[in-house]
Amino acid sequence: MAEEKILVTSALPYANGPIHLGHLSGAYLPADIFVRYQRLKGTDIIYVCGSDEHGVPITITADNEGITPQEVIDRFHNINKDAFTKFGMSFDIYSRTSIPTHHKNAKEFFKCFYDAGLFNVKKSHQFYDEKSMRFLPDRYVEGTCPKCGYEEARSDECEKCGSLYDPSELVNPVSKISGSTPELRETSHWYFPLGKYEERLKKYIDEMNSKIGWKDNVLQYCKGWFHDGLKDRAITRDLDWGVKVPLDGIDDKVLYVWFEAVLGYISATKELSEKRGEPDLWKKYWKDKDTRYIAFIGKDNVVFHTIIFPAILMAWNDANPDDQYLYPENVPANEFLNFEGKKFSKSRGWGIDAIDFLNQFPADPLRYTLAANLPESKDTDFYWKEFQGRNNNELADILGNFVNRTFIFANKHFESKVPETGELLDIDKDMLSYIESQPKKIGELIEKYKIKDAVLEMMNLARAGNKYFNDSEPWVSIKQDKLRTATTINICLQTIYTLAEIMSPVIPESSTKIFNMLAARPVKWNDCGNANLKVGTQLNTSEILFTKIEDEAIDAQINKLGVVDGVVVEDAEDFKQIEFDDFVKIKLRVAEVLEAEKIKKSKKLLKLQVKIKGETRQVIAGIAEAYKPEDLIGKKVVMVANLKPAKLMGNESQGMILAVEGENGLSVVEVDKSIKNGTEVR
Ligand code: 2FM
Ligand code: ZN
Repeated sequence: MAEEKILVTSALPYANGPIHLGHLSGAYLPADIFVRYQRLKGTDIIYVCGSDEHGVPITITADNEGITPQEVIDRFHNINKDAFTKFGMSFDIYSRTSIPTHHKNAKEFFKCFYDAGLFNVKKSHQFYDEKSMRFLPDRYVEGTCPKCGYEEARSDECEKCGSLYDPSELVNPVSKISGSTPELRETSHWYFPLGKYEERLKKYIDEMNSKIGWKDNVLQYCKGWFHDGLKDRAITRDLDWGVKVPLDGIDDKVLYVWFEAVLGYISATKELSEKRGEPDLWKKYWKDKDTRYIAFIGKDNVVFHTIIFPAILMAWNDANPDDQYLYPENVPANEFLNFEGKKFSKSRGWGIDAIDFLNQFPADPLRYTLAANLPESKDTDFYWKEFQGRNNNELADILGNFVNRTFIFANKHFESKVPETGELLDIDKDMLSYIESQPKKIGELIEKYKIKDAVLEMMNLARAGNKYFNDSEPWVSIKQDKLRTATTINICLQTIYTLAEIMSPVIPESSTKIFNMLAARPVKWNDCGNANLKVGTQLNTSEILFTKIEDEAIDAQINKLGVVDGVVVEDAEDFKQIEFDDFVKIKLRVAEVLEAEKIKKSKKLLKLQVKIKGETRQVIAGIAEAYKPEDLIGKKVVMVANLKPAKLMGNESQGMILAVEGENGLSVVEVDKSIKNGTEVR
């Protein structure tokens, strides 16, 4: 049987801006962890990525800055490549779609379909901006909705009333690029008949899903597309930046960016082959039946990878019976990572670019924090405080501390060598069997793309190591039974060896340091749970693996949020208008605090009993840092009375107390004591 091979791609990010943490956790870090794990397993695998360098937004950035699109893509290709390198991404190649190899490849696909008579050519009317001399894509034209009069409607669709109309019906159209009135011009485009592949696409997705098990979120997106029916898609645009339509006499049109970007994966693999001096290498990953192709992306890219790209490949395969491309075996798309409770937004100063982050903090703590909180099945958030906590309380206090205390013992009592083992007690055997079982368990989770769970299991081994160290009390045994201590330290070192390997997909730089300290090298993943360090091995000098991050460093970052060029940006999201009907859904009532007490193990929460009208309710409020329990008693506060009950640290909360954040911390919203309990606040 031929050896299994894997091809992994991550979405090609646009070279039109710097990537941020959300990108890293969506399509890049999970793929890198998967790839690094597979390499340790000994799998024949390549990992391909690169910049997506076409599309209208790049030309707009260029115009705004008075530079060429080439300058825009050169700048961001380099910034993003650098950020990926600093982040420890292990691409086999980071290519770009502006290279001749890609243009040639994309043109070949177009020509193949054109020659096969696959396309439909359709005429349509599109806005043309004479001032900037270009056709305007829909999102660059704004006007008044012909149906409801909404003044910020798009050229063919109104966000407010949901109606679709012909661009010629839009009232007072304005070009968002030049501000002038665009005119409608006739243009024609080539359309790819997506509907022709609908049944085969459904079958393909069904088959892959029953074989491998696709993620639910991905299947749901696909379902939505099939529900609406697949329609012809224009795959050319009136633009001069992009891959030129390869037909004689057509020189003012390019291929639609999404049509060629997905083909960029193939082009990047071709470039890798050229670089390695093996021109046919790419074929083995794109065409051999025993290759598995996995495409890592974020949720906004699902349709392009589960429907459009496979349809393009089907069309190619139909036209070339002897030259068959593989389809993605899986598209494990992630949801989004938000930032401190809101969407990343450059204009609102919300979030941080990857490169800025990595110029201030090392990559491993970021990789670990993001990996432990990946948006695998729902959106998650990055919080600065969580980053600090994961670094200080987990990486430094659990993993770092375990490694450090083990090395201190080995250095002090065993001449910095791996000591021998004596008789194994149950505690030792249990630890050894735990070390042995973890790599398999973690490997299986990674193979199912449950990376978050895998990361938890990795740290669990370090936790177990610390516990084993504590329970074995080497500081006691060293006084009575040195061989017992030797056994303990030997097993701790074996644990560290296994930890270095199983954690290396997530924290590669720190793992390399640990391997160096152990004077050891990685083994095959499947072997890394069996005590592999030889007795007598001379250990190298140990170093501190993780430095604690101080509050000041984190506070400084938090203070920068929502500030652009030194000015605080008003948050449009906070001021999104709601209907009166939405407001009246919230029942606010005056409540009197009858009792208040601290909640064990919680710094922030207080448990309150409050009275509204005839009933007493329990409310858990995050105000423990601002109030002593006794100071609250008798206060009349405002509470949300119709909030669904929720559990906080095991305590049911039947409402929410309103509070405001001031310079001196939180204060609850109080009303005059003469107002009756239960009075509605309007
Ligand atoms: O969303 C994006 O950043 C796109 N540039 C992803 C393209 S993925 C593939 F098609 F290249
Ligand atoms: Zn409307």
